[in-house]
Amino acid sequence: MTTILAIESSCDETACAVVRDGREILSNIISSQIDIHELYGGVVPEIASRNHLDRIEQVVNKALKTADLTWASVDALAVTAGPGLVGALLVGVSYAKGLAYSLNKPLIPVHHIEGHIAANYIEHPALQPPFMSLVISGGHSHLIHVRDYTDFEIIGKTADDACGEAFDKVARVIGLGYPGGPKLEKLAKDGDEEAIRFPRPKVAGEPYGYSFSGIKSAVLNYLNRAAMRGETVRPADVAAGFQKAVADVLTERAVAATLDYGMRDLAVAGGVAANNYISNKLSTACATAGIRFYRPAPIYCTDNAAMIGVAGYYGYQAGRVAGLDLNAVAHIDVGRLNG
Ligand code: KG4
Ligand code: ZN
Repeated sequence: MTTILAIESSCDETACAVVRDGREILSNIISSQIDIHELYGGVVPEIASRNHLDRIEQVVNKALKTADLTWASVDALAVTAGPGLVGALLVGVSYAKGLAYSLNKPLIPVHHIEGHIAANYIEHPALQPPFMSLVISGGHSHLIHVRDYTDFEIIGKTADDACGEAFDKVARVIGLGYPGGPKLEKLAKDGDEEAIRFPRPKVAGEPYGYSFSGIKSAVLNYLNRAAMRGETVRPADVAAGFQKAVADVLTERAVAATLDYGMRDLAVAGGVAANNYISNKLSTACATAGIRFYRPAPIYCTDNAAMIGVAGYYGYQAGRVAGLDLNAVAHIDVGRLNG
């Protein structure tokens, strides 16, 4: 039995979880800073770091207490080492290093995206590599061929904005607050998704590439044109049309990639995977194509430490242990942590 305490602090959630044998979550504590960053319309890195520092000790202690364990029963520490906001990551990495040193336990670095993918293992015991994963978050939009638990190949990505970033930007221009994704999904329910057709951009030479900035710009142009002509705009229709365009491109390329790579399983991950409209589209298209579709529970889609504990377990199994010189890295390729 391997019990891992995992820490995640890459953006605006201070999180700690205790995970047993890679698939059983004994505790999952998330302290969100959304209410603070909402005032500024987005995450302010310096404020995020300071709040992680204020909260991390309580969050870690609560995770251990909720799991009803003592430090003696923790076998290893896992921590998100990148990518993310470097000052925010540093808080988690430094805390985990301190614990690893004082408890004399191994320290396992985890790639944030590897964590998002691993969230799928929590409630889907049947899911095993190889499979295709669509990772859609605030910072990333990747199609990843998961060859093994710690072996990843990025086969497609966005040429510009991340998917969640486009959601947040469109939400802002139609007057919704931060984070815009969930608010836009809610508003879209009242809209007519056929009222406005936004483009579905392709990326030259990249069959599995995305351009979310292309869809976002089309929304901005539509709003500017309507304002110039004095036409009234229904924000709910804009939200529904935008969400449909995003869901269509995500689905088309994810299904094509899964089939082209001879995979039978598609697992979606990341904050945008919490979107029910997108998830339903993916699920329906997969059923038609004979692909099994997986998605984590919404609480494991957005940032959390349980997913880091799961990915950490598989990294540990593969012999991945860091020294106390481990550093936080703002940009890092998925899979490089094994190298
Ligand atoms: O994975 P995540 O929590 O953090 C990153 O690693 O980036 O993803 C956050 C992103 C934000 O852009 C947020 O607006 C988006 O996920 N998001 C959603 C929904 N819930 C979160 N986007 C669309 N619909 C949602 N329901
Ligand atoms: Zn994330």
